[in-house]
Amino acid sequence: MNRDVIVACDFPGKKETLDFLDRFKDEKPFVKIGMELFYAEGPDIVREIKKRGHKIFLDLKLHDIPNTVKKAMKSLSDLDVDICNLHAGGGMEMMKAAVEGLTREDGTRPLLIAVTMLTSISQEMMEDELMISGSLPEVVMSYAKNAKDAGLDGVVCSPLEAAKVHEVCGDSFLTVTPGIRFADDSKGDQQRVTTPAKAKEIGSDYIVVGRSITGAADPVAAYRRCVEEFCR
Ligand code: C5P
Repeated sequence: MNRDVIVACDFPGKKETLDFLDRFKDEKPFVKIGMELFYAEGPDIVREIKKRGHKIFLDLKLHDIPNTVKKAMKSLSDLDVDICNLHAGGGMEMMKAAVEGLTREDGTRPLLIAVTMLTSISQEMMEDELMISGSLPEVVMSYAKNAKDAGLDGVVCSPLEAAKVHEVCGDSFLTVTPGIRFADDSKGDQQRVTTPAKAKEIGSDYIVVGRSITGAADPVAAYRRCVEEFCR
């Protein structure tokens, strides 16, 4: 397993993103590109960051009928990203179709991970609005198992769920975990947060860190602190 820190580049446009990445002279952080940046700049921003030598997690959370997702994944596969994702709630047929679409002629493909239940969904919302019964952790584990059975490589989950996901789906099933803060940071809008060191202890494979790095006075030092706590 290659434990790594993924920096969430939640910027509105190309200029802010490239200015930020230019600050890194000695390392090439693994970069997460989300909907905000992708919808603003299109696939060219992925090509540009890839060309600079960064690994990329393209966080677009696909959720549609299997045929549409399969074809969308084919387009993403041609973009040569390292990780992409979808919603496990789209069902197993959709997830299997996504794996097919993503797989290139030579058999290689980016890693594919599933969002289980968004961390913004509470137990109450799940029952009253989505009409899904059961406890939220049970639903998360069931979706993780579906993702594994559909041939996916892992899930996005809370670092606090990482150990349980590994217990249910095996150690090689990846856990990619946002919700990371340094011990001396404020939580912001994240509710269930842990430090990079704690995420390592629980067994996350990748941590996704946004504002603790992008909003730091010295982002390079903050990134190095994350790597030190999580990877070493
Ligand atoms: O700034 P912060 O470290 O909270 O950023 C976390 C990143 O992870 C953001 O890009 C956010 O969209 C993403 N994310 C999350 N919770 C999820 C899935 C993704 O915070 N369940």
